[in-house]
Amino acid sequence: MPHDTSAINKQRQDLSQHQSVWLFGYGSLIYKVDFPFVERRPAYIEGWSRRFWQGSHDHRGTPERPGRVLTLIETPGERCTGMAYRVSPDVFEHLDHREKNGYLRFFTPLTFANGEQQQGLVYIATEDNAAFLGPADEAVIAKHIAESEGPSGKNSEYLLKLADGLRELGVIDPHVEKIRHHLLPLLSS
Ligand code: SIN
Repeated sequence: MPHDTSAINKQRQDLSQHQSVWLFGYGSLIYKVDFPFVERRPAYIEGWSRRFWQGSHDHRGTPERPGRVLTLIETPGERCTGMAYRVSPDVFEHLDHREKNGYLRFFTPLTFANGEQQQGLVYIATEDNAAFLGPADEAVIAKHIAESEGPSGKNSEYLLKLADGLRELGVIDPHVEKIRHHLLPLLSS
């Protein structure tokens, strides 16, 4: 799969018949909302967990020194809580560009706090994408994040804003919190 997945994503789902589409955000889409939306509601998806296993060449790192950002990894029994946005289909033009570094759109069932279910789109960077970095110890990930920066800013900002956004949703994600725990002393030293 090429580094830039935006052209592939345009072909993946025909959204032209939809008035609006639900988008599920689990990473930067929780705290950096640079797109218009009709409404937003906390929601979760089943069988996935967030992991800092994706390389970032275009936002929080560079092709020479990729940063580490989130993707979703299939994890039976796990629940991933994030923010769902109801958007007009044309918003995917912008989103496909923003998420072009290895992410593909997938339809997924998502569940709102009141139990209501809807189909929504989620961007997942699968293991076969060229920027995928894979697992590492949380302390190693924290060091990597502390040392990375790209056109969208410091990699540490991604993690800290995400952790705050998750807390606002009432979510304590152990993977994110462990990295935060290792990261904070590195930033103040
Ligand atoms: C998402 O936030 O849902 C996708 C990954 C990212 O942009 O951080």
